[in-house]
Amino acid sequence: MQHSVTFPSGKVDYLFQPKEQAGKDPFAALSTSYNKQHMVIITNDHLAKLYEPLFKGYKTLVIPAHESSKDLHTIETLSKQLLQLEAGRNTLLVGVGGGVVTDIVGFLASVYMRGVAFGFVPTTLLGMVDAAIGGKNGVNLGLNKNLLGTIHQPDFILYDVNFLQTLPNIEWSNGFAEVIKYACIFDVELFEELSNNNISFYKHDHNALLALIEKCVAWKNKTVIVDEQETGVRKLLNFGHTAAHAIENLYELPHGKAVAIGMVIACMISQDVAGLDKEATVKLKKLLQQYHLPVSQSIDPRHTMDVLRMDKKRKDDKIDYIVLEHIGMAVIHALPFSVIENALTAYASHN
Ligand SMILES: NC(=O)c1ccc[n+]([C@@H]2O[C@H](COP(=O)([O-])OP(=O)(O)OC[C@H]3O[C@@H](n4cnc5c(N)ncnc54)[C@H](O)[C@@H]3O)[C@@H](O)[C@H]2O)c1
Repeated sequence: MQHSVTFPSGKVDYLFQPKEQAGKDPFAALSTSYNKQHMVIITNDHLAKLYEPLFKGYKTLVIPAHESSKDLHTIETLSKQLLQLEAGRNTLLVGVGGGVVTDIVGFLASVYMRGVAFGFVPTTLLGMVDAAIGGKNGVNLGLNKNLLGTIHQPDFILYDVNFLQTLPNIEWSNGFAEVIKYACIFDVELFEELSNNNISFYKHDHNALLALIEKCVAWKNKTVIVDEQETGVRKLLNFGHTAAHAIENLYELPHGKAVAIGMVIACMISQDVAGLDKEATVKLKKLLQQYHLPVSQSIDPRHTMDVLRMDKKRKDDKIDYIVLEHIGMAVIHALPFSVIENALTAYASHN
C-alpha cells in the first residue's frame, strides 16, 4: 500500500509494508525506486544487534541508542564516516529507528553537502505516529531540546509495524503519549476510543493498530500541509511539549513521559486561561494512567522555567502556549512567563 502527500516543500511517499512481510527484508520495498549502492542506512547500536540480518548487504552506520546522541558531536562523527564511505550528493540516507535516529538523520541529510536525499523507517510507535512525520529534524544543544534544526521533508517514510513486535512495553507507553496528544488537540472521538481500549488491545489487533497509526499520520499531515513552517496552526501539535521539552533533559525522562506530564501541566493552565472543565483534566489523567504514563513528577519550578524561557515559541516575555478549551479543541494563547511560572509552582507543590 502506498500513497503520497504533497507538502509546500516537497512530496513524501508513504509506504506501508504488508503484514505477510514479517521477518522479510523491509528495505526491499525501496529497491524499485532507489539504487542500493547509493543507500546508507543509519541506525542505533541496539537495533543493529537486534535486527542484524536485515542490515546485511547494506552500508550501515551505527550510533549509540540514547537521547544524548542527539547532538552536534554525532552529526560531526556521522559526517566524517559518510566522507570515508565517499558518500556524495547522490547518496540516500535511510534512518532506521525511533525519533532519536530519525531526528538525527533528517538533520544530517539537510546539512551534509548542503543536502542529500533521505527517508525514514520508524521502528517505534512514537516514531510512526509523530517523529518521522512533518519534516522537523533537529538536535539538542545542552539542555535545550531540538534547538538546532531544519524543516526538510524526507523522500519516503516506510511503515513496517512488524518492528513493533520487539518494542518494550515502556516504549509502547511513550508512543501513546503522542497518540493521546492528537486526541486532546483534535479528536474527541479518538479520546473516547482510547478510553475504551488499552495497549494490549492495540498490540494484538493488527488492523486496529494500523488504523490508529493512519489516523495520527493523517492528523499530523493535515496540519503540516497548511503550515509547514509552524507560523500558526502547526504550533497546536506542541500541546504538552513546552513544559515537556524543559523537563525532558533536565530530569532525563523519555520523551513520551515528559509529554504526559507536560499535558497535565497544560491542562492546569487551560483551566485558568481557557475555561477548561476540571473534569477534563481528571479524564486526561485517567487515560494517561491507563496507558501506563506518569501524571506526576517532582520538578523544580525555577530550574524548569530557566530552560523553558529559551523555548522556540518565545516572543519577548511571552510564550505561545497550547491550551485546551475542551478535549478535542486546542488553541494558542500567548502567556506571560509569570503565568507559566505560577502554574509550574502550583504543579510542583502537588507532586
Ligand atoms: N521531529 C519530530 O517532529 C519529533 C516529534 C516527536 C518526538 N521527536 C523526538 O523523538 C525522540 C523520541 O523518540 P522515541 O520515543 O522513538 O525514542 P528513541 O528513538 O530513543 O527509541 C526508544 C528506544 O526504543 C528502542 N527501539 C526502537 N525501535 C525498537 C524496536 N522496534 N524494538 C525494540 N527496541 C526498539 C531504541 O533503541 C531506544 O532504546 C525524542 O528525541 C523527541 O524529541 C521528534
